[in-house]
Amino acid sequence: MLRFACLIGLLAAPAAAEDVALGEATFQGACAACHGAGAAGDGPMADLITLPVPDLTRIAVRNGGEFPWLKVVHLIDGRTGLRGHGGPMPLFGALFAGDTGAADAPDGTPVITSKRVLALTDYLASIQVKE
Ligand code: HEC
Repeated sequence: MLRFACLIGLLAAPAAAEDVALGEATFQGACAACHGAGAAGDGPMADLITLPVPDLTRIAVRNGGEFPWLKVVHLIDGRTGLRGHGGPMPLFGALFAGDTGAADAPDGTPVITSKRVLALTDYLASIQVKE
């Protein structure tokens, strides 16, 4: 029974540190060119594209103080088409292929996507500012 309780504890644990590290490394490699190394929307490519690049440290602030975890997963994995990411077809298809991962969203919704998408989302959740 004790072992079972530990397992539940593990499953319910917040993002493991190594996931956040993978998310940060992926972010620096694939996202920082536009969103900036500190995710403030000020990467070197931000001036070159016609759309304003959002500050990703303020996703929670823009959403009434709550980080919309599931929505962010879908934004990154391409299920919610973002113009800046190449429209409904995700620009990052190859980056996110072949490493399927599953997680439960905060509301309990089971989510299947790439482990890198989950890691990126947990990394972004970890860098949200309060105001
Ligand atoms: C080519 C530049 C570019 C790259 C590279 C890029 N983004 Fe974006 N991103 C944008 C733009 C522009 C928007 C605003 C989209 C719009 O208005 O349609 C955006 C929007 C977002 C949003 C939605 C923010 C919000 O509050 O609505 C998230 C989340 C995001 N990007 C995450 C990422 C991640 C994670 C990566 C790396 C895998 C990445 N982006 C790579 C340009 C980029």
